[in-house]
Amino acid sequence: MCGIIAYAGDREVVPLLIKGLKTLEYRGYDSAGLVVKQNNQLGIIKRAGRISELEKSPELGSLNGSIGIAHTRWATHGVPNETNAHPHLDCKKEIAIVHNGIIENYAGLREILKKKGHNFISNTDSEVIAHLIEDFYHGDLTEATINALRCIDGTFGLAVMSKNEDKIVAARRGSPLILGVGDHEMFVCSDAAGILEHTKKVIYLDDNEVATITKENYSISDIYGNGIDKKVHEIKWSIDQIEKKGFKHFMLKEIFEQPDALENTLRGRIKDKNIKLSLNFDIKSIKRIIFIACGTSWHSALIGKYIIEKINRIPVDVDYASEFRYKNPIIKEGDLVIAISQSGETADTLAAIKEAKAKKAKTMGIINVVGSTISREVDSGIYLHSGPEIGVASTKAFTGQVLAILLISLYIEQEKGNKIEYSLVEEITRLPEKARTIFNDTEKIKNIANDLRESKAFLFLGRGINFPVALEGALKLKEISYIHAEGYPTAEMKHGPIALIEKDFPVIFVLNKDNLTKKCLSNIEEIKSRGGKIIIVTSDKELKEIADKIIYVPATKEELSPILNVIPLQLLSYYIADLKGIDPDKPRNLAKSVTVE
Ligand code: M6R
Repeated sequence: MCGIIAYAGDREVVPLLIKGLKTLEYRGYDSAGLVVKQNNQLGIIKRAGRISELEKSPELGSLNGSIGIAHTRWATHGVPNETNAHPHLDCKKEIAIVHNGIIENYAGLREILKKKGHNFISNTDSEVIAHLIEDFYHGDLTEATINALRCIDGTFGLAVMSKNEDKIVAARRGSPLILGVGDHEMFVCSDAAGILEHTKKVIYLDDNEVATITKENYSISDIYGNGIDKKVHEIKWSIDQIEKKGFKHFMLKEIFEQPDALENTLRGRIKDKNIKLSLNFDIKSIKRIIFIACGTSWHSALIGKYIIEKINRIPVDVDYASEFRYKNPIIKEGDLVIAISQSGETADTLAAIKEAKAKKAKTMGIINVVGSTISREVDSGIYLHSGPEIGVASTKAFTGQVLAILLISLYIEQEKGNKIEYSLVEEITRLPEKARTIFNDTEKIKNIANDLRESKAFLFLGRGINFPVALEGALKLKEISYIHAEGYPTAEMKHGPIALIEKDFPVIFVLNKDNLTKKCLSNIEEIKSRGGKIIIVTSDKELKEIADKIIYVPATKEELSPILNVIPLQLLSYYIADLKGIDPDKPRNLAKSVTVE
């Protein structure tokens, strides 16, 4: 949701900023821009569209300097054109800002500033920050920024520079921002990916913190100017983890990475058939679990409900984080609120966790990005270690989340002193290898994608633990191929969606071989008799005759089946999008981590 990178050092800043922006492009990609301090003036270039448009602009070659800020945008206020692209300038073109977040009181501030003579040129909420800082500026950019921030309601990840000073001021409230500490150079970035090739030493800014960087130094304060000491963290990712490694898209690479990613989620967590997790609270006393999440992470939460209610017999509620935060949720003693989030930055999930904490709930996170805001907000948690997920469509994080929930569920039983099902633990260790075999069918899935690519709508059906898999299959398809798709519990189909079925309407069944297979067979017949096209994802070889197309996955335990069943659906969506000429890594209107409401 908008990417920011800023640099102060000795290097030529333009190529460094462009490269950093490209790494951050998955955060937003409707316009981009940068500003550089050059001969005590601000040189600015902005373009609508992707970063490649900015890179192509001829003026770029004439910009040089070694201090600058840059931005790739996901529009909130104002259409994505060049005027609304960041950076934004003050009236005198002496102060430049880039902003990620939403200024909620911008309209009021804008009116006040206009009356004071400020001239606005964009339709954005962000521009007000530049004019506000201008209003407070008397030679000290840090002080002016702090004064401006005290007037602002809303969220910001912010970088500011002035033509008069060799520094960058950065601040955060609600939108992630880190400092990168280099050797005689300093960085500000929305996430570690943008600066990983330059430094692995980072400082995570917390809400309402303001940092000032120069090439040699940094200082951090709160928004009252009180100094704060912060820990410098070492990033464990390596640069090759954020490269495509020969794959056409990050999404495809991340789908194929899943067997390795699952191994990473398991690493060190199963020893002598025992589950090893280090949680800093007594999980066996938990009486109810409430999962809060958004999007794909919400689907893994739904699977988590099946798993935990089956294995632990603990009641589980699953809430959309955006609903939980405003519904005055009922929290009782013994409740555990678990946030599931790949990025650890999703604004709604973060706010929901804060709401849970305010109500004195115990909180936990299942998070992929180490050091992310939610991971620092929760009382305890486990990391997925799935590696960086760059494609906007979540894939390997989803399978990692389901696996992590299963580990937590078994751990609860173990902590209670109950016998855990060792055959399930053994099957978990076989899972990565089983996942690997699914890729033997990649060509077949691609052919099915080719057959179905012109379809106008899809229905995904699954029962029990596979109902959320159907939801996830539908979400993947619509977000990257722009084809309308719905996920439904298989048996619910006859209560409405069956009206959609006509000749060749594609219906994808996700089926385990279990006591419900027979029931699902009747539903398949109901679709077939109305001309629908039946595509089945299953381990059950006996379903071959009834399907128009069948994709086999290895047989496994029910609790693990979503992990294997979802992989063909991810591939199917990927290939449909690719065959339609859509870039699945950057689908329209979306951004990777949604850091605004
Ligand atoms: O980073 P998070 O897991 O908190 O993100 C939640 C959703 O925004 C995310 O899963 C989104 O739905 C993806 N685009 C799905 O592929």
